Amino acid sequence: MTAKRTVRLRSRVIGCGAYLPETVVTNDELAKRVDTTDEWIRQRTGIGCRHIAAPGEMTSDLGRRAAERALANAGIGADEVDLIVLATSTPDETFPATATKIQARLGITRGMAFDVQAVCAGFIYALAVADNFLKLGQARTALVIGAETFSRILDWTDRQTCVLFGDGAGALVLRAGPSKANGRDRGVLSTHLHADGRYHDALYVDGGPSSTGKVGHLRMEGREVFRHAVVKLAAVVEEALAANHLSGADIDWLVPHQANQRIIDGIARKLGLDDSHVVSTIEHQANTSAASIPLALNEAASDGRLQPGQLVLIEAIGGGLAWGASVIRW
Ligand code: UT7
Repeated sequence: MTAKRTVRLRSRVIGCGAYLPETVVTNDELAKRVDTTDEWIRQRTGIGCRHIAAPGEMTSDLGRRAAERALANAGIGADEVDLIVLATSTPDETFPATATKIQARLGITRGMAFDVQAVCAGFIYALAVADNFLKLGQARTALVIGAETFSRILDWTDRQTCVLFGDGAGALVLRAGPSKANGRDRGVLSTHLHADGRYHDALYVDGGPSSTGKVGHLRMEGREVFRHAVVKLAAVVEEALAANHLSGADIDWLVPHQANQRIIDGIARKLGLDDSHVVSTIEHQANTSAASIPLALNEAASDGRLQPGQLVLIEAIGGGLAWGASVIRW
């Protein structure tokens, strides 16, 4: 009797794409609306400007455009997609999942489509979910999208939060394949997720269908989130490196969530990585929550920095608190 050989599957990245709304709002323009300055925003966060969705332009519009670009980049048709996981905290409607609206707009009528909500860590959560579906053979080709319109949940009179966020979307196309193709182990190597709901009050939206019946506004204790970010991100990147028997020196690109340049610099320092190994988009995009990592991946892939075969470390933390990291061989 011959033993059946089991082929281990790996989720490989075969394409990426992104979309940013046309309207750009500078720090100086915000300084006309709230008591702030370009200097304060740049010094404390690294943010110079942000894109804001047009009236009527929804999360599904942003996500659909990013997904179309990712599919074109992968060179495949939408009909090949059998899983859509959308990371968002700003869905078009309370239900159905905004992923199903994107699915319909892409002309896809089969497979699964659903949203994952882990705020700024959402893209890593969505990636982990899709990766597990693909590794189990429950889907073959996945669109993992991060899309947000945080401008709709900001309190535009609160200078402590309204200057920090922007709108946008990014997407990856993942395809299940043998874990070693041509001797190289490419794709999502591992994902590491954490949550600790005790810190709800540090970052939340003060509304929702089951509480106030209104959408509500984002509320954040910035200093407290900052303190947690530095400690928890340092721990989760160590966890991700150790799981893959890697050290910081092995990483070609740190592609972090873009919440604050000072947090990004702190994690890069801990890993022993200088600026030339870090992708930062915060200056021109601000914090786009679940969209920030795929937007940054797409930027680095499009301008030629990120090359096939390179090792990428992604990390993020946000409301929940929820946080995570992943190592990907591009
Ligand atoms: O993506 C989800 C995860 N989020 C994060 O990771 C965000 C983490 N937190 C942060 O990035 C930072 O804490 C902030 C950027 C939000 C704030 O920076 P900070 O250095 O922690 O400033 P702070 O909150 O300690 O405020 C310092 C001062 C305060 O004035 P006083 O009390 O010292 O007089 C604030 O009132 O800056 C004041 N301030 C501002 N001044 C001008 C707060 N916001 C502004 C503003 N413009 N927009």
